[in-house]
Amino acid sequence: MTTSTIQLFDQIDMTIDTLTTSVFSKNRTVEAPDLPLSPRLKANSRLKMDGLEFLGMLPNDSVPVAFLDPQYRGILDKLSYGNEGEDRGKARSALQQMPEETISEFVGEIDRVLIPSGHLFLWLDKFHLGVGFRQWLEGTALDIVDMVTWDKERMGMGYRTRRVAEYCFVLQKYPRRAKGVWKLHTITDVWREKITAKTHPHCKPVELQGQLIAAVSNEGDYVIDPAAGSFSVLEAAVSQRRLFLGCDLEG
Ligand SMILES: C[S@@+](CC[C@H](N)C(=O)[O-])C[C@H]1O[C@@H](n2cnc3c(N)ncnc32)[C@H](O)[C@@H]1O
Repeated sequence: MTTSTIQLFDQIDMTIDTLTTSVFSKNRTVEAPDLPLSPRLKANSRLKMDGLEFLGMLPNDSVPVAFLDPQYRGILDKLSYGNEGEDRGKARSALQQMPEETISEFVGEIDRVLIPSGHLFLWLDKFHLGVGFRQWLEGTALDIVDMVTWDKERMGMGYRTRRVAEYCFVLQKYPRRAKGVWKLHTITDVWREKITAKTHPHCKPVELQGQLIAAVSNEGDYVIDPAAGSFSVLEAAVSQRRLFLGCDLEG
């Protein structure tokens, strides 16, 4: 998208905002188009496949919601305590790691398949809060519009402070707006949810993800996750009567 097109969308947004009185909207005016599925893709199933190959099978501008929880290389480097893959973090160390360039490719592909004003929920840890991740967004029409801190209610590791939180960044494709797009206003930006049955080293909270899905899609819409791990997003999508499409290298 060119700079002048982006500026035009921003001007339209501002005009809409000044013409209307409420900041909130309870209805979505955005609709996702019908999604013609490749025969290799099946809704609500745990596909075993490379995420980039999966994304390559989806048409441009076709899905309203995506999740990405990258298995990024940095976590093993930055949280190195010397016993990775032995006593601690054995399951985590065994997972396929994603270099920075691969994460950028995932983000670029998600940008391509999201509908205009569609959302990407991007899970990150505190190192990326500090060092930033804008380089992953370069050349995309995505930008940061919000963030939710997930309090896991479970004490993790840390040389200094002990980790209890992870962060879910809310990214939106142009045109960026909440009105007529985000319809649920009960999600707090600090969210406490304990995972009781841990089926994957990086399980994410199903209830929070379900609420986020409900906020930015309609029943029957597709929700995608190209690196799904325990497939917590599948569970969240089904709980909200949405359709899930996603995969993991491990299946
Ligand atoms: C951080 S975990 C995702 C956890 C997930 N959000 C959950 O709630 O369980 C990242 C996953 O990415 C997978 N992965 C790594 N590289 C991949 C690739 N190229 N394609 C698909 N999955 C990949 C790993 O196997 C791992 O399960």
